Amino acid sequence: HKKIEEALLELRKGNLIIVADDESREAEGDLVGIANLVSPETINFMTKFARGLICAPISLQRAKQLQLTEMVQKNTDPFGTAFTISVDYETTVTGISAYDRAKTIKALGQTTTKATMFHQPGHIFPLIGKEGGVLKRRGHTEAALDLAKLTNQSEAAYICEILNEDGTMARLEQLKVLAHSWQMPLITVEELKQYLEEQRPTV
Ligand code: 5RP
Ligand code: CA
Ligand code: ZN
Repeated sequence: HKKIEEALLELRKGNLIIVADDESREAEGDLVGIANLVSPETINFMTKFARGLICAPISLQRAKQLQLTEMVQKNTDPFGTAFTISVDYETTVTGISAYDRAKTIKALGQTTTKATMFHQPGHIFPLIGKEGGVLKRRGHTEAALDLAKLTNQSEAAYICEILNEDGTMARLEQLKVLAHSWQMPLITVEELKQYLEEQRPTV
């Protein structure tokens, strides 16, 4: 439990953590943060040091509120990652600066945001999480959302895959080294699943 509790503590401070999925799945590590606690600094960190695609996991309920539907009718992604049409918040300029992307992500995390407040297409990719979280789908989308819900902060998060400096994917051993040098908690989807299973009331 301790690892997950520590990760939640960091997330509540607005900091990033690393979440690794199964070695038999993507075998990748994503930086994860909570949407309404985002800052231009954490986005800049993602673009400088992780260099993957910045996406924003949102719950199905939030997707409905914001009228965000799936990007394609027939999803043929190997893992069925549920991309919606990309968005930019109405007050952004280019949409891509760390400041603009933080604005868009923050808006996705706030319950007062309306569907009409986004331009489409944009520079942030919302991903719709499966109901039931990592207990139903072992993706980074669900892991980030489960963590967001556990912090009681929001039903939206933001994530970015971690690449090595040579452009290849950072695997678990490399992720451990990065977590150490970035002084960041590293958890796995499996650990989160176990934590949630133990939390679940057994009636
Ligand atoms: C979006 C992706 C990443 O793999 C991201 O981690 C979300 O996907 P998933 O929920 O399938 O892990 O493809 O850049
Ligand atoms: Ca992927
Ligand atoms: Zn992933």
